[in-house]
This record gives sequence, C-alpha cells and structure tokens, in this order.
Amino acid sequence: MVIQMAIVLGIESTAHTFGVGVVKDGKIISNIKDSYTTKKGGIIPLESAKHHEIIKKEVYSKALKEAKIKEKEIDAVAFSQGPGLSPCLLVGIRFAKEISKNLNIPLIPVNHCIAHLEVGKITGTKDPVMLYVSGANTQIIAYASQKFRVFGETLDVGVGNFIDNFARYSGIGFPGGPIVEKLAKEGSKRKNFIELPYTVKGMDIALSGILTNLRQKIETGKYSLEDLAYSMQETVFAMLVETAERALAHTEKNELLLGGGVSCNLRLQEMCKIMCKERGTKFFCPEKQFLMDQGAMIAFLGEIILKSGIKIKPELADTLDIMPRQRTDEVEVKWKKECL
Ligand SMILES: Nc1ncnc2c1ncn2[C@@H]1O[C@H](COP(=O)(O)OP(=O)(O)OP(=O)(O)O)[C@@H](O)[C@H]1O
Ligand SMILES: [Mg+2]
Repeated sequence: MVIQMAIVLGIESTAHTFGVGVVKDGKIISNIKDSYTTKKGGIIPLESAKHHEIIKKEVYSKALKEAKIKEKEIDAVAFSQGPGLSPCLLVGIRFAKEISKNLNIPLIPVNHCIAHLEVGKITGTKDPVMLYVSGANTQIIAYASQKFRVFGETLDVGVGNFIDNFARYSGIGFPGGPIVEKLAKEGSKRKNFIELPYTVKGMDIALSGILTNLRQKIETGKYSLEDLAYSMQETVFAMLVETAERALAHTEKNELLLGGGVSCNLRLQEMCKIMCKERGTKFFCPEKQFLMDQGAMIAFLGEIILKSGIKIKPELADTLDIMPRQRTDEVEVKWKKECL
C-alpha cells in the first residue's frame, strides 16, 4: 500500500548537531536543533555524543510543539543512519528505536548526505548537479540510474573540516566557517591576495597540501589572518566552482544545487552564481536553516521513502544498525522511480 498522507519525524545526530524535524505531506512544519560547539579546538566525538544525550528530549518536545502535533499523530520515525561519528550516530538510532517502539510506528533509515541533497528539492530544482560541501564531505554529485553518482570529490579532507582546521591553527573555535568568512570579507577590501597551491585533478580536488601551506604561513606570524582567509576562500572556492562546472559540462545538466554547511558562505554562493550565469545554468540554494545539519532534511527524505512503500516495522528495529562509513554512491535509491 502506498501511503498518501503522512507525518514523519526526522532525527539528525551524525556529528555536532542534534536535530528533530517534522514533515507533513511534503511540507516542513518544524525544525529544531541544538549544536555542540567549542571556544577553542575541534569536535570531540564522545563530548558531542554526551551533548546529544542531554539535549535530545528537549529538542524532541520543542519540535512537536512547533509542529503543533501530538506524539501519537506521528506515522513514522526517520533517522540518520550514516555516515558520521559512531558515538553520535548511536544516540540518534537508539532514540529513534525508543520512539518507534513506544508509538508502534515504523523506522526509516536515511543516508545523511543524500538528505542534504534531497531537501534541496524545496527550491524547485528537478535534476541538478549538486555541489555538496559540508564538514566531512566535499562531493559533486548527480543522479543517474538508481544511484547518486559521485563525479568529483575531495581526495583528502572535506572543505568544512579544512576551513575549521585553518580556523583552529588561527586560534578560532569550532565551527570556524562563519568567522573565517567574516575575516575574508575584511581581507577582500584590501585585495592583498597571497598565492596558495591550487590542486584540481579532473573533477577531484585536494586540500591537505593547502592546509599545510597555510599552517606554515600562520606560524611565521608575518601574514594577516584577514589576507590569509580571503586568499584561502578565493583559491579553494575557485577549485570547487571549476570542478562543478566540469561536471555540468560532462553530464549536460543545466541546474546547480548547493548543499551542506559550507554553502552558507555568501562568497561561495556568489562565485557559483557567476559561473552559472555565464553558462546559462539555473542556480539553486536552499535557505540557511536547511544547509547545516538538521532534522527536517531527514524527515523530508524519510517521508519520500515512506511514500514509496519502504519502512522497517518496529518489531524489526533490532535488525538496524548505524553505518558510520556509508558512501553516497553505495545507497540503492529504490524510492526514486520517476527519474529512471
Ligand atoms: N559561512 C560559512 N562559510 C564557510 N563554512 C561554513 C560557514 N558556515 C558553516 N560552515 C562550515 O560548515 C560545516 C558544517 O556543515 P554541516 O553541518 O553541513 O556539516 P557536517 O555535518 O559537519 O558534515 P557532513 O554533513 O559531511 O557530515 C562546518 O565545517 C562549518 O565550519
Ligand atoms: Mg551534514
């Protein structure tokens, strides 16, 4: 039986954020989250998991309240199965199983990266090339024959983690992205561009060499952080735009969709828009709250999967486990029949 109307809850817990979202008939009706942050240094997985454990019930209650629904109205509970940090993923899956058992409703395991991309559908895009730039991931993805194919990706670290590391070496806490963006904006006024390595290999990029180079420059104490942040953004975002453009040319698609937390960066958005305009490609970027990790995207994809008839009954909950290393192109996209 194909379910027509549904209320789906989505739980996100892969890394720094614990989020709960609610989707009703394709509409996001709530999106509450609480994130683990640090003043200095990076993310400690066990500490982040502890944060999720403490906050989970409060986030859940707030999400139901914002959605103006009662627990018993929920038809299914979707959760991020992977990829992510194991201790954090475990908090989410256990909470999802608890809700599923208590309410006797099915579970829907969701791939976190694909949720980042599928929620982009709210912008009206139909068949895009997706530039997915988050903490741990940097991939250029397009859908073809039942799989999200990865056309290009980072050969080492994700661009968000790269920026967070640059921030850490500069004495800035986690997440570093928004502060680095502000510094870069200051730097852009002076336009004192510092040459950095530019590493594009076909549709792939590499970032660790640039990070080492930046670290060495920071340690000399001779460069201003504003100039370094500006030069870093101009260099690395140009690499992203170049590879995204190559994928657009290769796939002959004419839509570009941004996803993942680094897409919040206005300079990256601007550079993508310029490239799209030059080649007559439509540009799509969801609003900020749907770019960073959150539960609404999990609920959104969860509802699509549920409507295709896929779900795990509560009595089979124990057969489900987390998948910390699940790759985007490993997932068999059984719910997407219309694009065959
Ligand atoms: N304005 C910004 N400019 C650049 N980077 C940003 C900005 N805002 C946030 N970020 C970066 O986005 C990242 C977080 O994004 P997101 O929540 O999508 O990723 P993640 O969940 O950590 O990784 P993944 O989705 O790969 O598991 C962080 O690395 C953060 O520094
Ligand atoms: Mg994410």
